[in-house]
Amino acid sequence: MSIDPAITAELAQRPRLRIPAHLGVIMDGNGRWAKARGKRRTEGHIEGVKSLRNLVELCINYGVGHLTVFSFSSENWTRPREEVAFIFNLLRRFVASDLQKLIRNNVRVRIIGTREGLEPSLVRLIDDVEAKTSGNTGLVLVVAFNYGGKAEIAEATRRLAREVAAGRLSPEAITEQTIESALYTAGMPDPDLIIRTSGEQRISNFLLWQAAYSEFVFVDENWPDFDEQSFLRVLEIFSMRDRRFGGIEVARP
Ligand code: FPP
Repeated sequence: MSIDPAITAELAQRPRLRIPAHLGVIMDGNGRWAKARGKRRTEGHIEGVKSLRNLVELCINYGVGHLTVFSFSSENWTRPREEVAFIFNLLRRFVASDLQKLIRNNVRVRIIGTREGLEPSLVRLIDDVEAKTSGNTGLVLVVAFNYGGKAEIAEATRRLAREVAAGRLSPEAITEQTIESALYTAGMPDPDLIIRTSGEQRISNFLLWQAAYSEFVFVDENWPDFDEQSFLRVLEIFSMRDRRFGGIEVARP
């Protein structure tokens, strides 16, 4: 899979195409992609990483500010042990193979989710990737790994409760902003657009708080098949949506 310069050039001619400041992606269907080809599920995950690499490049080219991808959910622990180990290794391999290129492309990497249950060596790797890219000012690639939206809100709640118990925060002073500042995504814009592949139409515990006003686009392709054409089609759909945030229709710029 690669980026077609002809498509990129064509897109640049379309003035009404809106680019999300923050794009979230639920990369679903690796297993089904593999099964349909008589391959092992793990081969689907390997193709899924290629698709992710391609999407990162697309986001850089099209000027997406933040890209958050759901790569391992708190619920994925129920999968067979070998598959869990394989996905964990994919993260290690992705870092080993792509870190230098990400740095060259000015990408800042953030990994959100709980560090609990992760091997210390993986936690060190995550900390290292975040540190090595922390000064980058281009695309922010947020990898939701060992992530669950409910767990994130529970963790934020515990953090704020500790502040209250210590007398540093009054319960009356807790606002939506206070809660936001205690989430993993503190300081990031909320996702404007969330894509889910493979025809499933669920949020599956992804960015629950942050998705309050996100637009959702569900596509039928399995994640390994999601390419530049798919990306452009989704952006076209997103560009047609009227985002009212609970208000009334406003004129589009
Ligand atoms: C969903 O397909 C995919 C996952 C749960 C794992 C996603 C992981 C990647 C795409 C690569 C991870 C990248 C990094 C950097 C670790 P599925 O297995 O749920 O597919 P199915 O629903 O068809 O079974």
